[in-house]
Amino acid sequence: MTDLTTDSLDLRHWLDEARTLGELTDVAGADWNLELGAISELNVKKERPNALLFDEIPGYPKGHRVLTCSTASAARLSSILRVGHEATHRGLVQTLRGKPKQWQAHAPEYEPVTVGDGPVFEHVQAGDDVDLFSFPAPLWHEKDGGRYIGTGCMVVTKDLDSAWVNVGTYRVMIHDRNHVGLDMIPGKHGAIQYDKHMKAGKPFAVAIVIGCDPLGYLISGIEVPYGMCEYNYIGAILRKPVSVVQGQLTGLPFPSASEIVIEGYAHPGDVKVEGPFGEFHGYYPGKAETAPVVTIERIYHRSNPIIMGSPPAKPPNDYSYSKAVMRSALLVDALQAAGVPDVAGVWAHEIGGARMFNVVSIRQRYAGHARQAAHILSQCGVGAYMSRYSIVVDDDIDPANLQEVMWAVATRTDPDIDIDIVKRGMGSKNDPMSIANPYKAPFNSKAIIDACRPYDFLHEFPEVAEASKELQQKTRARWEHLLG
Ligand SMILES: Cc1cc2nc3c(=O)[nH]c(=O)nc-3n(C[C@H](O)[C@H](O)[C@H](O)COP(=O)(O)O)c2cc1C
Repeated sequence: MTDLTTDSLDLRHWLDEARTLGELTDVAGADWNLELGAISELNVKKERPNALLFDEIPGYPKGHRVLTCSTASAARLSSILRVGHEATHRGLVQTLRGKPKQWQAHAPEYEPVTVGDGPVFEHVQAGDDVDLFSFPAPLWHEKDGGRYIGTGCMVVTKDLDSAWVNVGTYRVMIHDRNHVGLDMIPGKHGAIQYDKHMKAGKPFAVAIVIGCDPLGYLISGIEVPYGMCEYNYIGAILRKPVSVVQGQLTGLPFPSASEIVIEGYAHPGDVKVEGPFGEFHGYYPGKAETAPVVTIERIYHRSNPIIMGSPPAKPPNDYSYSKAVMRSALLVDALQAAGVPDVAGVWAHEIGGARMFNVVSIRQRYAGHARQAAHILSQCGVGAYMSRYSIVVDDDIDPANLQEVMWAVATRTDPDIDIDIVKRGMGSKNDPMSIANPYKAPFNSKAIIDACRPYDFLHEFPEVAEASKELQQKTRARWEHLLG
């Protein structure tokens, strides 16, 4: 039932492509109970990690599979983003410059198209038949509070007083055969919609897509503007609308070729302890807290369904590379939209989970330019959540090269005047440092480090003691056999 004018976000089409590119490895016999998670975690620490497709998972029928590490290479990320084949990181970053701005601008032209049927309805569980344990949801890390069926998932919800459908990636823990915990951090769009329903005393409809083309969770896991539906944004990337079917229970839309969709309601007052969970910054943060419970009343799935797994952990982790690439591209756009000129580059470092340690390089044009860039980097819509260190460097420094960045911090700052601290910024209950913060709500403080040469001494600042570009080039050419 392939409709060429729409895209059903079929994971299996993408897997065929990944296999052809040599980017997919099959793994048979790994246990859902910690083994699959540990394999995935060690895999992404390798230099060139392939995507892993796990099958023959003990206790489950052959064909019930789990995919991990899908977005962890430049080649796969470029194929997921439909920007042509970019085997190198540098090529991908270059290709993506300005793209998020274009996708966002075109998103309104790509309303999802509702179709009557799709492969997702091949099997339906309802009433007493609903059993979340019929899928090999992994116990990812040793200290997790339960099995997380939702990591690389898309949580579909709707606003209370408008037609806005939001699609966000939030972790989903299985409580029992028909209940899950849903951890939406305050301020995230799903959480805003949930709060409105709870205040009005109304049940909150939820459909959770556990597997489709990885473009789905890649986009639902980044900051698409408030009020915009991620399906539109995905449509703009694909240059065709996403084809969706409607859930039989809630009417919520989800891709017609989804692998597994679980559907139900979060009822007012129904919350339960959820977590802990090994998170993207590398910790099991804070203490286990309560989160909304979703009572699952329907499960739809394809034959031989595939769970899209994307387990966080100490970086580099399953999705830290893709988040660094995506958030860096979004931050360049955000800075430009806020009127910051001459942005040479931005890098949201994997060591900070692409949130907590971000660097912008600029060609300084005027007094105050550097602080302006760094403060906006730290506070703009894409960057504010959990930002901790925002560093601005001159354009002779590669913002993605930690060695260079820290050299600039070490040699071009005077801590007394070059570090600004913003208090009571946007933090998170999932911040490992929240344990020591003095606030009653999830604030954090933010350091802005201006590691540019002081603008008022730009021309007197000591010259860099390094062979000039020309001398380097000439020397490399003549001594290639020695220098490589
Ligand atoms: C694999 C993965 C897991 C995530 N888990 C959570 C989570 O449990 N809770 C949360 O609030 N955000 C989580 N995020 C981050 C959100 O997906 C991200 O902030 C996104 O912008 C949220 O969508 P929204 O902007 O529509 O709220 C996760 C992201 C990824 C990629």
